[in-house]
Amino acid sequence: MRRKIVAGNWKMNKNVIEAQQLMIQLLGYKNENKTNCEVWIAPPSLYLMMAKDIFEKDEIGVFSQDMSEYESGAYTGEISANMLESIDVSGSLIGHSERRQYHGETDESCNKKVKLALDKGLIPVYCNGETLDQRKAEQHLDVVKNQTETALFTLSAEEIKKVVIAYEPVWAIGTGETATPEQAQEIHAHIRNTIAEKYGKEVAEEISILYGGSVKPDNAKEIFSQPDIDGGLIGGAALKLEDFSKIIEAFN
Ligand code: G3H
Repeated sequence: MRRKIVAGNWKMNKNVIEAQQLMIQLLGYKNENKTNCEVWIAPPSLYLMMAKDIFEKDEIGVFSQDMSEYESGAYTGEISANMLESIDVSGSLIGHSERRQYHGETDESCNKKVKLALDKGLIPVYCNGETLDQRKAEQHLDVVKNQTETALFTLSAEEIKKVVIAYEPVWAIGTGETATPEQAQEIHAHIRNTIAEKYGKEVAEEISILYGGSVKPDNAKEIFSQPDIDGGLIGGAALKLEDFSKIIEAFN
């Protein structure tokens, strides 16, 4: 059985009081409700230590939104895998499309980050997905295959099993436009086949692949019911407990 995960990416939202309030609400929710999936959050890095204090029994997995491709040194503003490990977070998002679009992230840099994260025992949540132009040009299958191969295929079978993949079509992020469950399933199965071709079916079957892009309470159940979709990476709808909890409950 693959792990089922609902992860909230808070992006650059909430001041410290608001962040603390939502974390406390989430802790209360988690303590009062049995969930059928793991619940993770990726708050802004400034709040990671607070999150680790609030979720002291690891009720909710705490992830950073990015990490450096370098181990340490003169990289102003960056956060290293070593730092994340030292505060005991669970892992890091890597290669989110907003990092690719605004901060020059490439699959080559993702490859370095994924490797560094794994070396420190952190779970890399490797994000990929095609742009609208690529989808219109019917290049989406090739794009996602190439991304997956470049970012992950230097890993050993044991290493790649520890990676979580988040497929996020860029055109569906924050736009209210969602891939249909069939469109998402097609790509998830394609990613899994791509991995199976290199590492074998057994390895590919173990990897959780999340869908991200305008997942909301009213479409989560249908998306998560697809055979190769193991949960979601949620942006906007992760910012309020009311919405986020309904998405978690799509697994019930
Ligand atoms: O990391 C989350 C994704 O970018 C999805 O964001 O749910 O606001 O579309 P969204």
